[in-house]
Amino acid sequence: MILLGVNIDHCATVRQARYRGYDSTVGGPVEPDPVFLATLAERAGADGITIHLREDRRHIQERDVWRLREAAQTRINLEMACTPAMTEFALKVRPESVCLVPESREEISTEGGLDVVGQRERVRAVCEAMRAAGITVSLFIDADSAQIDAAAELRAPWIELHTGAWANAYHGAGRAEEFSRLCAGARQAHAAGLVVNAGHGINYVNVAEIRTLPHVHELNIGHSIISRALTTGIEEAVREMKARMNPAG
Ligand code: PXP
Repeated sequence: MILLGVNIDHCATVRQARYRGYDSTVGGPVEPDPVFLATLAERAGADGITIHLREDRRHIQERDVWRLREAAQTRINLEMACTPAMTEFALKVRPESVCLVPESREEISTEGGLDVVGQRERVRAVCEAMRAAGITVSLFIDADSAQIDAAAELRAPWIELHTGAWANAYHGAGRAEEFSRLCAGARQAHAAGLVVNAGHGINYVNVAEIRTLPHVHELNIGHSIISRALTTGIEEAVREMKARMNPAG
Protein backbone atom coordinates (compact mmCIF):
# COMPACT_ATOMS: atom_id res chain seq x y z
CA MET A 1 0.00 0.00 0.00
CA ILE A 2 1.38 3.42 -0.98
CA LEU A 3 1.19 5.99 1.81
CA LEU A 4 -0.18 9.50 1.36
CA GLY A 5 1.39 12.58 2.89
CA VAL A 6 -1.01 15.51 2.58
CA ASN A 7 0.70 18.87 2.13
CA ILE A 8 -1.40 21.63 3.71
CA ASP A 9 0.74 24.64 2.68
CA HIS A 10 -1.82 26.00 0.26
CA CYS A 11 -4.52 26.12 2.91
CA ALA A 12 -2.21 28.60 4.64
CA THR A 13 -1.69 30.38 1.29
CA VAL A 14 -5.44 31.10 1.20
CA ARG A 15 -5.43 32.27 4.81
CA GLN A 16 -2.45 34.58 4.25
CA ALA A 17 -4.14 36.09 1.19
CA ARG A 18 -6.72 37.64 3.54
CA TYR A 19 -5.22 37.57 7.04
CA ARG A 20 -1.50 38.22 6.67
CA GLY A 21 -0.28 39.99 9.77
CA TYR A 22 -2.96 38.70 12.13
CA ASP A 23 -1.07 37.37 15.10
CA SER A 24 -3.63 34.72 16.03
CA THR A 25 -4.48 31.71 13.93
CA VAL A 26 -7.61 30.54 15.69
CA GLY A 27 -10.85 32.24 16.67
CA GLY A 28 -12.36 35.37 15.17
CA PRO A 29 -12.57 35.48 11.42
CA VAL A 30 -9.15 33.96 10.65
CA GLU A 31 -9.71 31.15 8.17
CA PRO A 32 -9.03 28.63 6.79
CA ASP A 33 -7.02 26.95 9.53
CA PRO A 34 -4.41 24.56 8.09
CA VAL A 35 -4.13 22.66 11.36
CA PHE A 36 -7.86 21.96 11.48
CA LEU A 37 -7.64 20.91 7.83
CA ALA A 38 -4.81 18.55 8.76
CA THR A 39 -6.97 16.87 11.40
CA LEU A 40 -9.74 16.38 8.82
CA ALA A 41 -7.20 14.98 6.34
CA GLU A 42 -6.03 12.53 8.98
CA ARG A 43 -9.60 11.50 9.66
CA ALA A 44 -9.99 10.76 5.95
CA GLY A 45 -6.91 8.52 5.89
CA ALA A 46 -3.87 10.73 5.38
CA ASP A 47 -0.83 8.81 6.61
CA GLY A 48 1.11 11.96 7.42
CA ILE A 49 0.95 15.75 7.17
CA THR A 50 3.58 17.67 5.25
CA ILE A 51 4.28 21.36 5.81
CA HIS A 52 6.95 23.65 4.48
CA LEU A 53 8.07 26.44 6.78
CA ARG A 54 9.64 28.73 4.22
CA GLU A 55 12.24 31.32 5.06
CA ASP A 56 9.90 34.08 3.82
CA ARG A 57 6.94 32.62 5.80
CA ARG A 58 4.69 33.14 2.82
CA HIS A 59 2.21 30.46 3.88
CA ILE A 60 2.93 28.27 6.93
CA GLN A 61 3.88 30.22 10.08
CA GLU A 62 5.91 28.93 13.00
CA ARG A 63 2.81 28.84 15.22
CA ASP A 64 1.12 26.52 12.66
CA VAL A 65 3.95 24.05 13.10
CA TRP A 66 3.72 24.18 16.88
CA ARG A 67 -0.06 23.77 16.81
CA LEU A 68 0.26 20.90 14.35
CA ARG A 69 2.78 19.28 16.71
CA GLU A 70 0.05 19.32 19.39
CA ALA A 71 -2.77 18.18 17.11
CA ALA A 72 -1.23 15.64 14.73
CA GLN A 73 -2.27 12.04 15.22
CA THR A 74 -0.15 10.67 12.39
CA ARG A 75 3.30 11.97 11.38
CA ILE A 76 4.65 15.42 10.64
CA ASN A 77 7.01 15.78 7.70
CA LEU A 78 8.61 19.23 7.90
CA GLU A 79 9.99 20.49 4.61
CA MET A 80 12.83 22.89 5.25
CA ALA A 81 15.83 24.63 3.77
CA CYS A 82 19.26 23.35 4.73
CA THR A 83 20.06 26.23 7.10
CA PRO A 84 21.25 26.45 10.71
CA ALA A 85 18.09 28.40 11.69
CA MET A 86 15.77 25.73 10.29
CA THR A 87 17.86 22.95 11.81
CA GLU A 88 17.55 24.60 15.22
CA PHE A 89 13.79 25.01 14.76
CA ALA A 90 13.33 21.37 13.66
CA LEU A 91 15.29 20.10 16.63
CA LYS A 92 12.91 21.99 18.92
CA VAL A 93 9.67 20.91 17.22
CA ARG A 94 10.83 17.34 16.60
CA PRO A 95 8.78 16.32 13.57
CA GLU A 96 8.91 12.61 12.72
CA SER A 97 10.74 13.51 9.52
CA VAL A 98 12.28 16.48 7.77
CA CYS A 99 12.50 16.80 4.02
CA LEU A 100 15.40 18.98 2.92
CA VAL A 101 14.44 21.15 -0.04
CA PRO A 102 16.14 23.93 -1.98
CA GLU A 103 14.64 27.32 -1.36
CA SER A 104 14.91 30.56 -3.20
CA ARG A 105 12.71 33.55 -2.48
CA GLU A 106 11.61 34.11 -6.07
CA GLU A 107 10.06 30.74 -6.84
CA ILE A 108 6.31 30.19 -6.39
CA SER A 109 6.86 26.76 -4.84
CA THR A 110 9.82 24.38 -4.81
CA GLU A 111 11.09 24.31 -8.42
CA GLY A 112 14.03 21.93 -8.56
CA GLY A 113 15.62 19.21 -6.48
CA LEU A 114 18.19 19.80 -3.78
CA ASP A 115 21.76 19.85 -5.06
CA VAL A 116 23.20 17.28 -2.65
CA VAL A 117 26.34 16.86 -4.77
CA GLY A 118 27.10 20.57 -4.72
CA GLN A 119 26.29 21.09 -1.03
CA ARG A 120 27.39 17.75 0.35
CA GLU A 121 28.93 19.03 3.60
CA ARG A 122 26.03 21.34 4.36
CA VAL A 123 23.53 18.51 3.81
CA ARG A 124 25.70 16.09 5.78
CA ALA A 125 25.66 18.40 8.80
CA VAL A 126 21.85 18.55 8.82
CA CYS A 127 21.56 14.77 8.27
CA GLU A 128 23.85 14.11 11.21
CA ALA A 129 22.03 16.52 13.53
CA MET A 130 18.68 14.93 12.65
CA ARG A 131 19.99 11.39 12.97
CA ALA A 132 21.32 12.18 16.44
CA ALA A 133 17.86 13.48 17.39
CA GLY A 134 16.05 10.42 15.98
CA ILE A 135 14.40 12.42 13.17
CA THR A 136 14.22 10.74 9.76
CA VAL A 137 15.75 12.74 6.90
CA SER A 138 14.39 12.80 3.40
CA LEU A 139 16.23 14.54 0.56
CA PHE A 140 14.07 16.07 -2.18
CA ILE A 141 16.12 15.40 -5.31
CA ASP A 142 15.79 15.05 -9.03
CA ALA A 143 16.03 11.51 -10.41
CA ASP A 144 19.68 12.06 -11.19
CA SER A 145 22.20 9.29 -10.69
CA ALA A 146 24.87 11.47 -9.03
CA GLN A 147 22.34 13.02 -6.62
CA ILE A 148 21.04 9.58 -5.66
CA ASP A 149 24.59 8.31 -5.05
CA ALA A 150 25.25 11.34 -2.85
CA ALA A 151 22.03 10.75 -0.88
CA ALA A 152 23.07 7.13 -0.31
CA GLU A 153 26.56 8.18 0.75
CA LEU A 154 25.02 10.50 3.35
CA ARG A 155 22.76 7.63 4.56
CA ALA A 156 19.74 9.95 4.21
CA PRO A 157 17.78 7.42 4.70
CA TRP A 158 14.84 8.56 2.52
CA ILE A 159 14.66 10.42 -0.74
CA GLU A 160 11.70 12.14 -2.32
CA LEU A 161 11.97 12.09 -6.09
CA HIS A 162 10.97 15.40 -7.65
CA THR A 163 8.09 14.57 -9.99
CA GLY A 164 7.62 18.16 -11.27
CA ALA A 165 9.27 17.71 -14.67
CA TRP A 166 7.28 14.54 -15.31
CA ALA A 167 4.01 16.20 -14.17
CA ASN A 168 4.67 19.19 -16.43
CA ALA A 169 5.32 16.87 -19.38
CA TYR A 170 2.36 14.63 -18.59
CA HIS A 171 0.19 15.82 -21.47
CA GLY A 172 3.10 16.40 -23.85
CA ALA A 173 5.82 14.62 -25.74
CA GLY A 174 8.36 14.22 -22.93
CA ARG A 175 6.21 12.21 -20.54
CA ALA A 176 7.55 8.71 -21.30
CA GLU A 177 11.14 9.91 -21.08
CA GLU A 178 10.52 11.69 -17.77
CA PHE A 179 8.75 8.67 -16.33
CA SER A 180 11.60 6.33 -17.33
CA ARG A 181 14.01 8.74 -15.66
CA LEU A 182 11.95 8.52 -12.45
CA CYS A 183 11.78 4.70 -12.70
CA ALA A 184 15.56 4.40 -13.18
CA GLY A 185 16.10 6.74 -10.22
CA ALA A 186 13.71 4.80 -8.02
CA ARG A 187 15.45 1.50 -8.87
CA GLN A 188 18.90 2.94 -8.23
CA ALA A 189 17.82 4.44 -4.91
CA HIS A 190 16.11 1.25 -3.77
CA ALA A 191 19.18 -0.81 -4.68
CA ALA A 192 21.28 1.59 -2.58
CA GLY A 193 19.00 0.97 0.41
CA LEU A 194 17.08 4.27 0.28
CA VAL A 195 13.34 4.53 0.89
CA VAL A 196 11.75 6.11 -2.20
CA ASN A 197 9.05 8.75 -1.86
CA ALA A 198 7.84 11.09 -4.59
CA GLY A 199 6.09 14.42 -4.87
CA HIS A 200 5.34 17.66 -6.69
CA GLY A 201 2.61 18.20 -9.25
CA ILE A 202 0.83 14.90 -8.59
CA ASN A 203 -2.90 15.15 -9.28
CA TYR A 204 -6.05 13.04 -9.63
CA VAL A 205 -5.18 12.17 -13.25
CA ASN A 206 -1.45 11.54 -13.25
CA VAL A 207 -1.57 9.55 -10.00
CA ALA A 208 -2.61 6.61 -12.20
CA GLU A 209 0.94 6.51 -13.58
CA ILE A 210 3.03 7.61 -10.61
CA ARG A 211 1.46 4.89 -8.47
CA THR A 212 3.28 2.41 -10.72
CA LEU A 213 6.71 3.89 -9.89
CA PRO A 214 8.90 0.99 -8.70
CA HIS A 215 9.43 0.78 -4.94
CA VAL A 216 7.42 3.91 -4.16
CA HIS A 217 6.69 4.18 -0.45
CA GLU A 218 4.87 7.49 -0.03
CA LEU A 219 3.47 10.24 -2.25
CA ASN A 220 3.38 13.83 -0.98
CA ILE A 221 0.50 15.70 -2.55
CA GLY A 222 -0.68 19.23 -1.81
CA HIS A 223 -2.00 21.56 -4.49
CA SER A 224 -4.29 19.09 -6.19
CA ILE A 225 -5.94 17.91 -2.98
CA ILE A 226 -6.50 21.47 -1.72
CA SER A 227 -7.89 22.41 -5.17
CA ARG A 228 -10.23 19.43 -5.15
CA ALA A 229 -11.41 20.29 -1.64
CA LEU A 230 -12.30 23.83 -2.80
CA THR A 231 -14.16 22.49 -5.80
CA THR A 232 -16.14 19.83 -4.00
CA GLY A 233 -16.92 22.17 -1.09
CA ILE A 234 -18.13 25.26 -2.98
CA GLU A 235 -21.80 24.28 -3.31
CA GLU A 236 -22.28 23.63 0.38
CA ALA A 237 -20.40 26.82 1.26
CA VAL A 238 -22.65 28.96 -0.98
CA ARG A 239 -25.85 27.25 0.23
CA GLU A 240 -24.91 27.86 3.86
CA MET A 241 -24.11 31.54 3.27
CA LYS A 242 -27.42 32.13 1.48
CA ALA A 243 -29.29 30.40 4.28
CA ARG A 244 -27.58 32.63 6.86
CA MET A 245 -28.34 35.75 4.82
CA ASN A 246 -32.01 34.85 4.61
CA PRO A 247 -32.79 32.76 7.70
CA ALA A 248 -36.53 32.92 7.28
CA GLY A 249 -36.48 32.11 3.56
N1 PXP B 1 7.02 17.56 -2.06
C1 PXP B 1 7.83 18.63 -1.93
C2 PXP B 1 9.22 18.43 -1.46
C3 PXP B 1 7.37 19.93 -2.23
O1 PXP B 1 8.17 20.99 -2.09
C4 PXP B 1 6.03 20.08 -2.65
C5 PXP B 1 5.51 21.44 -2.98
O2 PXP B 1 5.46 22.24 -1.86
C6 PXP B 1 5.22 18.94 -2.73
C7 PXP B 1 5.75 17.69 -2.45
C8 PXP B 1 3.77 19.03 -3.09
O3 PXP B 1 3.61 19.50 -4.39
P1 PXP B 1 2.16 19.82 -4.91
O4 PXP B 1 1.63 20.94 -4.08
O5 PXP B 1 2.38 20.20 -6.34
O6 PXP B 1 1.34 18.59 -4.74
